[in-house]
Amino acid sequence: MADERTHHVPVMVGEVGALLEPARGGVFVDGTVGLGGHARMLLDDGADRLIGLDRDPDALQAARAALQRFGDRVTLVHADYRALGAVLDAQRVDVVDGIVLDLGVSSLQLDAGGRGFSFRRDEPLDMRMDQSQGATAAERLAAVDESELADVIYRFGEERKSRRVARAIVRAREDAPIERTGQLAAIVRRAVGGPWQRIDPATRTFQALRIWVNGELDGLDAALDGAVSRLRAAAGPGGGRLAVISFHSLEDRVIKHAFRGMASGDRPRVRLLTKRPIGAGAGEVAANPRARSAKLRGVERLAA
Ligand SMILES: C[S@@+](CC[C@H](N)C(=O)[O-])C[C@H]1O[C@@H](n2cnc3c(N)ncnc32)[C@H](O)[C@@H]1O
Repeated sequence: MADERTHHVPVMVGEVGALLEPARGGVFVDGTVGLGGHARMLLDDGADRLIGLDRDPDALQAARAALQRFGDRVTLVHADYRALGAVLDAQRVDVVDGIVLDLGVSSLQLDAGGRGFSFRRDEPLDMRMDQSQGATAAERLAAVDESELADVIYRFGEERKSRRVARAIVRAREDAPIERTGQLAAIVRRAVGGPWQRIDPATRTFQALRIWVNGELDGLDAALDGAVSRLRAAAGPGGGRLAVISFHSLEDRVIKHAFRGMASGDRPRVRLLTKRPIGAGAGEVAANPRARSAKLRGVERLAA
């Protein structure tokens, strides 16, 4: 289960570098550029050019500062990685040599005040990565029906007491709209009950609502397919490579099936670079608790 403690260093940066081999040079894409940690590694280690996408304008600003020293080798675009094809078309880039996706939220989003991702501070319950689009968590909680909410909390949060939490939220909103993280956290903690174990009982429900509000699993499968179609096709080790880090078992399942599907059949499009997902090493997990649930998978594009 994901812990919402934050990370200031990119997760599994060495492992991503080993899969993507930026020393081969060429054009690389970071579809979730965030604070620019993976992007910096790719540029330092040999990528000629990096195109970085993020749906959060605040993240792009942070990435711009972090990557400033690379000058015009970097292009940053406010976009969803699910629109990667359109972004590359607009940049007049046909194929690329490597793509990294590091899914989920960044430490900036968790730590910066006012975004509503964290139950550690009392603030407006927004949770949107792109605040220019869609309904906030507060607006969604005001409208959702109890059974759908229970389903969301169970699937995306793996919360065994999802029905109880959903019922408590629906009861509470009859008294007053739920508009603050502190209010929601108190309702969830009361509903889950019992002594706290290792993590705050609100963690699972907050994670579930974040995934739901941002539609994080929607179109992931198609996005992976689209990303592979823009990788350089080559025989042998010259093909473009895609590396994906996920933090949730549902995401990892989608990635595993997508990669296996593309790697099988009469005319496989890719070769698996990871038969099983790579996890973070013990040292990294000790230094960065968020790395505990990270799983990395990669593929290499084969000749068409
Ligand atoms: C875990 S952070 C990435 C951290 C980054 N790898 C680094 O080294 O700093 C995930 C980032 O992906 C962004 N993101 C999440 N879903 C996205 C999507 N569908 N399209 C583009 N960016 C997305 C988030 O806004 C966040 O900044």
